Amino acid sequence: MLSYLIRECNTAALNLAKRNLSRLVKTALNNPASIWPFVQCVCPVESFRPGSNRQQDKTDAPVCGIICDIIPVAKRICTMSFPNVRLRRLRYEPAIRRMVQETSLSTERLIMPLFVRSGQNVRQPIAAMPGNFQFSIDELIKEAEEIASLGIGGIILFGIPDKKDAVGSDALSPDGIIPQAIRAVKQSLGNKLLVITDVCFCEYTDHGHCGIIHQMPNGQHDVNNDATLENLVSQSLIHAHAGADMLAPSGMMDGMIQAIRAGLDGIGFTHLPIMSYAAKYASSFYGPFREAAGSAPQFGNRQSYQMDPAASAGQAIREVQLDLDEGADIIMVKPALAYLDIVRKVRDHFEGVPIAAYNVSGEFSMVKAAAQHGWIDEKAVVTESLTAMTRAGANIILTYWAKDVARWL
Ligand code: PBG
Repeated sequence: MLSYLIRECNTAALNLAKRNLSRLVKTALNNPASIWPFVQCVCPVESFRPGSNRQQDKTDAPVCGIICDIIPVAKRICTMSFPNVRLRRLRYEPAIRRMVQETSLSTERLIMPLFVRSGQNVRQPIAAMPGNFQFSIDELIKEAEEIASLGIGGIILFGIPDKKDAVGSDALSPDGIIPQAIRAVKQSLGNKLLVITDVCFCEYTDHGHCGIIHQMPNGQHDVNNDATLENLVSQSLIHAHAGADMLAPSGMMDGMIQAIRAGLDGIGFTHLPIMSYAAKYASSFYGPFREAAGSAPQFGNRQSYQMDPAASAGQAIREVQLDLDEGADIIMVKPALAYLDIVRKVRDHFEGVPIAAYNVSGEFSMVKAAAQHGWIDEKAVVTESLTAMTRAGANIILTYWAKDVARWL
């Protein structure tokens, strides 16, 4: 029929088209390019436009209308392709490539995770994470000074206490390892570096879970959500009093943001922001971190509180929505690389909400190991990965490469 239309292009042809309108439209929609010859033939043919001579017969109107709709589509598809269009034109000159880039990394938006423990002059290497250490506080200060001088936005502190117990007492003491570290870094660096703290119990409990364990009515042992909330509040207030610039609760307890927000507001810290680990998955990519912080669960796993990697992405949206409603200021997706779809979904769903992505220990160790074998180019792979996180929609990136990236940029 199309070829008939092309050939004839007259009122009779239009009538036929009218009778077969749905078929014509279907063909055109399925394959607009197929009607290009028709368009070429009738298009000089302004006469098909409404208001032209052709339309004198009013019954032609629907066909004219349809054809007018189809023509621009067909034209666009048929003209916007090779050889007119060559995407390589903007790729030859580095300056042009840079000019048309949309994604760029910046040092101020990086956060460096640091591990802190007791002692003096301690820089205990973390075997699974080459280049990372457990620092005693005096060494932590030196490290923080270097990080600040590189222009990195902030550090996030993880504590390794001398003693672990069932409740994680070190995290509930104003003289625990983290409050001491906060005071020391703030004293030496003031507002030159943001000091963020991880608010959780897995590093402080002897069982390695993120809160208090209780026996449930069915006999199972698991983290007691609501009792843990009280401890999370106490831990948060201690960090706030010690001078933390931002708190980052990572335990994935229901209601943790509301509880911490209320606790902080109650002592006048209404200004202190919360970066919630909102969509945090029960991931195997945390392996090296658990060695670094000695925080592997001693029984079971974290699947009853951290998200199921196979859960609907919509569940991440619910987690984020809840945390925002409870007062979170920044939300985090963790891990980053295997969950870039989640970063993108959250970005699209919550316009204007700052998103942090955590480039976790397993992502770090894999690349380090391959780089040490000479199998991949570390700098190139890292910049590409962090660019991907940014492109997916992350504003802030927590990464063990923060210092290297600062030097590379
Ligand atoms: C919990 C916490 C973890 C990480 C950050 N905060 C470990 C966990 O959930 O088991 C992992 C970070 C990483 O792997 O780099 N306090």
